Amino acid sequence: MMIFIIAPFRVLAAALTLCLLLPPAVVVLATPTSSTLQACSEIAALLPPKQVYHPQQDLIQYNQERQSYWSTALRSVRPACIVVPQSAEHVSAAVRVLGRFPGVDFAVRSGGHDPNVGHATVDDGVLIAMTDMAGARYDAASGLAYVKPGGEWNDVIGDLAPSGVTVVGGRLGLVGVGGYLLQGGISFLSAQYGLAADSIVGWETVVANGSIINIDAAQHPDIAVAMRGSGSQFGIVTEFKVRPHPIGKVWGGVRVYSAAMDDDLYAALHGFVSAGAADPKAAVIHSTIIAPAGVEVHFIFYFYDGPEPPSEGPFAEYLKIPALLDATWTRTYADLLKSNGESARLLNARVSFRTYTIPFIPSNPSIYTAIRDKYTELASPLRASAQFSVDFQPLPSIVGASSDAAGGNAMGLRGSDPDRLILEFQGSWTTSLDDAKGYAVSRAMTEWLDEMVPVWLAEERYLPLFMNDAAGDQNVTGSYRDYARFSELQRGMDPRGMFARRLGGFKY
Ligand SMILES: Cc1cc2nc3c(=O)[nH]c(=O)nc-3n(C[C@H](O)[C@H](O)[C@H](O)COP(=O)(O)OP(=O)(O)OC[C@H]3O[C@@H](n4cnc5c(N)ncnc54)[C@H](O)[C@@H]3O)c2cc1C
Ligand SMILES: *[C@@H]1O[C@H](CO)[C@@H](O)[C@H](O)[C@H]1NC(C)=O
Ligand SMILES: *[C@@H]1O[C@H](CO)[C@@H](O)[C@H](O)[C@H]1NC(C)=O
Repeated sequence: MMIFIIAPFRVLAAALTLCLLLPPAVVVLATPTSSTLQACSEIAALLPPKQVYHPQQDLIQYNQERQSYWSTALRSVRPACIVVPQSAEHVSAAVRVLGRFPGVDFAVRSGGHDPNVGHATVDDGVLIAMTDMAGARYDAASGLAYVKPGGEWNDVIGDLAPSGVTVVGGRLGLVGVGGYLLQGGISFLSAQYGLAADSIVGWETVVANGSIINIDAAQHPDIAVAMRGSGSQFGIVTEFKVRPHPIGKVWGGVRVYSAAMDDDLYAALHGFVSAGAADPKAAVIHSTIIAPAGVEVHFIFYFYDGPEPPSEGPFAEYLKIPALLDATWTRTYADLLKSNGESARLLNARVSFRTYTIPFIPSNPSIYTAIRDKYTELASPLRASAQFSVDFQPLPSIVGASSDAAGGNAMGLRGSDPDRLILEFQGSWTTSLDDAKGYAVSRAMTEWLDEMVPVWLAEERYLPLFMNDAAGDQNVTGSYRDYARFSELQRGMDPRGMFARRLGGFKY
């Protein structure tokens, strides 16, 4: 029997906090500098009417754009104006104007799901919002998909579905596209085809001097590798050219478990990772949630690229464990992604993300419990008002094999690397009064892991951080093995520091 549940990925807070009232938004009226206002009006003059929103003249559209960030902490940021381009030429025009105003900061937003303040937001600056550049098209002649950065994965997957193909993308349909693809992208299809960015073969990009260039993976392999996981630092991408993959009926959805199942669930996780994606069609997101009042539940998102899951093997071990709620069944990929995401859309909270990459240690099946226990302890002072969750995301070495085959990505994943897990520590709360304490919980968690990982495993491992799940203060690019080479490339393409100093996002 299938049961629809309203309970989000990574967080149960939507359900648990809907009854709490959000405090009224504090409107801080920043006064933009005259050069910012001048840049806004020069951009407006070059674009068709109604594509630059001002807080006074276009309040409805301006506020609609501001309210479209996922984390409520970002919705109070006030750009001086919001540019809503409809083409690469419009973005190019905006970048050329901004090139003449070196004191004006700016930001680019695609879906607005990155919860880090200052990444896709800017106060007293120019926000370029990709709202009107969304969706995808399949070109049968070339066999490639053309994907726009705006909108959400539901748009992309839905547009490609009639052609029987999909691209490696989000696991929850509501997530944004541009940031996801530029910061790497873990997908249900990653064990088969690599990170989402590995399937990209071309980037239509507005570079620092305002030119629109087509970065082609075959012609510019060095830049292509950097583009697969460097975020916003090489340019503003207006279209991705992506190698699609066939997709038919899939099996999956979410199951919810009580804390009583902990031991069985973590044993199943350990077994699944130790199989090293022996069955690359199978994928899980194993999320342990520490809800207000210290109640613990597990949300597991299952995926199988086929109409039925296997009845034997490590994936099947998970499926034998009795669940409180079961919303897994056979359906289209588009339906699965849509239903996986709808409840996360309701999350009306301030969110923090923080990541850590741990080695898979076959001889130590108890680290998941140790991580859960430490997180519960650190979260306990905020037990009444916040919710925390940790996602255990297997990163089998087979993902790196696809990355290698595609020419490589910025994260430096290789097929010869051992299995790893990407952890995502999420916190959510409703009032800014909890911000400092809330962020501190996951920071303390990764500091603890800095100490524990060498204790768990004496030998050195390459453990790059995953940008899409990271906190703004984590040195993600510095964890990449080719950091020095990418930094040099970045400076070569952006000699005046237009993106390095003035645009939000992770830096080199
Ligand atoms: C509910 C939820 C589920 C998630 N699930 C997954 C998952 O399954 N796998 C995964 O890998 N990640 C996942 N994430 C993380 C997600 O990939 C990141 O939040 C990602 O940044 C979202 O993309 P976006 O377009 O919304 O980014 P935005 O918030 O719009 O931007 C993020 C960063 O990218 C830059 N950027 C955005 N667009 C462009 C562009 N066109 N050109 C240049 N720079 C740009 C921005 O400046 C900013 O620095 C999830 C997040 C949420 C909230
Ligand atoms: C990030 O890490 C790199 C490589 O270790 C280092 O050179 C750089 O200074 C670090 N950046 C910051 C801001 O700490
Ligand atoms: C703009 O920058 C790109 C990428 O660095 C470069 O290829 C191009 O020649 C530059 N154009 C001009 C007009 O300087």
